[in-house]
Amino acid sequence: MTSQEIQKRAARRRRYFLLLLLTVIVLIFAISKIVSRAKHGNEAVTTQLPVIDGSAAEDVPTEGLTRPTHPDPNAPTEPPTISVTEPEPAPIETSARTSTGGALYTPRLHMYVRVNHEQKIPLSVSGGVSADDVIWSTDHPDILDVQPGGIITGLERGSCMVTARLGDDLLIIPVTVRELNVVDGCTYVDDILVANKTYSLPREYDPGMLPETEKAFQSLCTYAAQEGLDIYEGSGYRSYDYQVKVYNSMVSGYSKEYADTWSARPGHSEHQTGYTIDCNTINNDFADTPEGKWLAAHCHEFGFIIRFPEGKEKITGYHYESWHIRYVGREHATAMYEQGLTLEEYLDIDSSYDTDEEDAPDEEPDEPEDETEDDEADDPAEEE
Ligand code: DAL
Ligand code: ZN
Repeated sequence: MTSQEIQKRAARRRRYFLLLLLTVIVLIFAISKIVSRAKHGNEAVTTQLPVIDGSAAEDVPTEGLTRPTHPDPNAPTEPPTISVTEPEPAPIETSARTSTGGALYTPRLHMYVRVNHEQKIPLSVSGGVSADDVIWSTDHPDILDVQPGGIITGLERGSCMVTARLGDDLLIIPVTVRELNVVDGCTYVDDILVANKTYSLPREYDPGMLPETEKAFQSLCTYAAQEGLDIYEGSGYRSYDYQVKVYNSMVSGYSKEYADTWSARPGHSEHQTGYTIDCNTINNDFADTPEGKWLAAHCHEFGFIIRFPEGKEKITGYHYESWHIRYVGREHATAMYEQGLTLEEYLDIDSSYDTDEEDAPDEEPDEPEDETEDDEADDPAEEE
């Protein structure tokens, strides 16, 4: 064999070897794909999101994710699902008009009234017609009493429709009748625990931060992080005794009058319910940060409300607190958000201190053991 033939044979062997290697690589790749598909089905790829507040955020599918529809983290039955398509935002209606576009109009889309409580349905009548000519009725006289002028009184817990009629013009307004109950010193309206200036919690009511609040907040933080936003807990659960300290420090730093517009008296703070979180830095600038704006627009999707909204100070009894969110569950939170209502309006309750009420205890309690309680006062005293 000539040296030329030997070289040719060697070159042919190299080609065969390379071809064989390539085939083996392709086969290994194809087999690993088949095995992986059999193991995971069509599962989306998951990415570990940043750690928030010391605990790892949930694994959230990110494949094909644009703007998610946020699952209610505390929904009782359905597991959280994530939509991968941009939902069309539904137009939010905040008032009711007759379907004929007639003379009757009310700025309320839905009315809420408690059992044995009275409310007046606000009604505008145009076209020079008198409101006295409007005829009022309800489809459930067992649930609601309706009097001329749109005066409604709750009779028993339930839902009904009220009709205002003027000639052919019909205005139909849904009404929910709520019931207030006191259980072990805690006030519930329907199933919502209330703590405000009117309704207090017993000193010994000490649930800590509730798991449903934690879970919903974790989910909120995770979704905010996907949009590049850092939302974290600034202040969470506060016991009665800790609130004594917070409130008294505000009173001694300013005045009782001033303190009462920012800080709740012990027993009256929602932080004692276990449903409340102050987000990020607790000051007035938070509202204008990307995080503050996102929180205002999206917290209801996770079951939270901005508890003390701007412009509702006379109703809630407190200044606007853009950082203070309260967990009420997604259904209630969304209804309040869409109807622009505070918890007081939604539950038909007041928020004002009983003038005979005792002052907060003077003595400062011992340093609380709960690590979630920090020394920071719950209001933007520095800015005021
Ligand atoms: N800042 C709110 C009112 C509280 O102290 O609970
Ligand atoms: Zn707060």
